[in-house]
Amino acid sequence: KGLGSIVNMRDFEQAAEEMCSKVAWAYYASAADDEITKEANNSDYKKIRFRPRVLRPVKEVDTSTKILGYDSTIPLWISPAAMAKLGHPDGEVNLTKGAASTGIIQCISSFASCSVEEITSARQPNQPLFFQLYVNSKRHLAEEVISKVNRLGLNAILLTVDAPIGGKRERDIRAKGEFEAPKTDAFDKQGETKGVAEAIFSAVDPDLNWKDLKWLKERTELPIIIKGVQTVEDAVQAYNLGADGVILSNHGGRQLDTTSTGLSTLLEIRQHAPYLLRPAYRTPTGPSRELVENPELLVPSVPAGEKATERKFSIFVDGGIWRGTDVVKALCLGADAVGVGRGFLFAQTVGGVKGVEHAVKIFESEIQSTMRLLGANKLEDLRPSMVDIVN
Ligand code: FNR
Repeated sequence: KGLGSIVNMRDFEQAAEEMCSKVAWAYYASAADDEITKEANNSDYKKIRFRPRVLRPVKEVDTSTKILGYDSTIPLWISPAAMAKLGHPDGEVNLTKGAASTGIIQCISSFASCSVEEITSARQPNQPLFFQLYVNSKRHLAEEVISKVNRLGLNAILLTVDAPIGGKRERDIRAKGEFEAPKTDAFDKQGETKGVAEAIFSAVDPDLNWKDLKWLKERTELPIIIKGVQTVEDAVQAYNLGADGVILSNHGGRQLDTTSTGLSTLLEIRQHAPYLLRPAYRTPTGPSRELVENPELLVPSVPAGEKATERKFSIFVDGGIWRGTDVVKALCLGADAVGVGRGFLFAQTVGGVKGVEHAVKIFESEIQSTMRLLGANKLEDLRPSMVDIVN
């Protein structure tokens, strides 16, 4: 079966299941405990309904944006996911090349199966690459990784905070014993075989805390994005302590099961700390006669001391994004961009670089048609009033 038979992102998932080894599939697909959060990540998007506006000219549509100041053809990046080589011999380099040719951004996992050097040598000139950091309990090893990231000219650090320990991923536990950790810097040289997740988390510092944000800021000039924020309280904390943004994420449901989803945390922020959102996104969802009849009321209210154009804090969402409609819903609610993890692992498993390119094209075309059918020509046209939440 060629890529021609892959019409949507779920087709990639199905094809990858057929092609992957037992260990690879267990690692990629697994989530914690009963996998309730993994399921909710996707089903929460189904609770958002569009409110399309008609008779607006939609021949022209532009899906491009800037993410932390870097150009991206669509408002979507490749979330950092470990061990791409379990699915395809070229691993993360497939993502690097596919991201370059389609103009999107790859976030490299601390536990990538290709070394950072291999990935950066496959990089096009000026291709932005973000790095996801797990802080090793041996702090000097973490410091070496940070200096390498600085030295190799990567463009942002995503500090993952939802994984002080690994979640209980039962598919992965059952498949254990057949995996040997690759020989990259990130893995402790343990000699014995473990489940993939277990091999990874033995190197992560469970005592990492908010004070370490200062420690990290002292070691890099790069923007720092906190990945794995699941409450409005922690989003506010990240903002107050000078992070450049947050990723509302539950790690694809792989950590604590039965948590909220990235989308529901975004709704929580809209309710309790709307000042974290860009001003135009602080308006309510759904119809409002008052707003419709007095469009000037839609002009955002800007808190004292803040200039509407100068907001620096970015809010990203990941988990359960499989459709262009999911992407557009998150943006209507105020996300700057979204991330996709498993979708790209599966795409590179099925088709290498071409698979990644095909996946981006699927998202791009679905985002374009969603925007057209919704009555939006550019991403800034997407508004909370274009969606409503059903119970
Ligand atoms: C991940 N994720 C992840 N996150 C991270 O910060 N560091 C990592 O090394 C990994 N590794 C990883 C491996 C695999 C196989 C998966 C599926 C996920 C989480 C990832 O960045 C992202 O948050 C989720 O994958 C998003 O959910 P979806 O798109 O997979 O539903």
